[in-house]
Amino acid sequence: MLSSRNLPPKKIVIFASGNGTNAENIIRYFQKFRKAEVTAVFSNKRSAKVLKRAHNLQVTPIHFDRQALYDTNEVLNILKDMQPDLIVLAGFLWIFPDKILKEFPNKVINIHPALLPRYGGKGMYGMKVHQAVIEKKEVETGISIHFVNEKYDEGKLIFQTTTPVEPNDSAEDIAEKIHQLEQEHFPKVIENLLFPAADE
Ligand code: GAR
Repeated sequence: MLSSRNLPPKKIVIFASGNGTNAENIIRYFQKFRKAEVTAVFSNKRSAKVLKRAHNLQVTPIHFDRQALYDTNEVLNILKDMQPDLIVLAGFLWIFPDKILKEFPNKVINIHPALLPRYGGKGMYGMKVHQAVIEKKEVETGISIHFVNEKYDEGKLIFQTTTPVEPNDSAEDIAEKIHQLEQEHFPKVIENLLFPAADE
């Protein structure tokens, strides 16, 4: 019987547009864990802090523009060469192209800072989401991790967890609670997808 200890690490690539606290947390988690590793971080924004974080953690940072993602097959071809086991969108704000979804079926996941299907869709990201949650006087919010399909935030749900919204919470307070949930759960959900319990 093949032991997983003898297998090469599974490959994760991350797409992110901004700060990259999730990307960094995932990179660090799997640097300890070793059965999987983040092999590259892609960003549509050259100045995104996430590319600096990747570089500092010895993970290849890759910047691309709209043309490379949508009009040519440049990004697709890099991914085909890398053959990732999982593509993780962590604060990636562009729609993910169909041609990559077709090439990697059930291998692209996203995290959203609210309880989908509420507060999702184009333009719903970061503080805008938390502000909307406050305006609707929700008593709880949370995070959603889901497979990506061709529509913003509509793919099949994989995981959700909640946190209470207190009457006096500001959008910043909610952002902090969501950040904590994301840091705690996102790497573990990725681990469970890559190594389902039945494989053990
Ligand atoms: C995260 O909270 C993530 O859920 C959210 O962007 C943040 C990125 O933070 N994603 C969306 O809003 C997607 N619609 P980070 O760059 O510090 O990881």
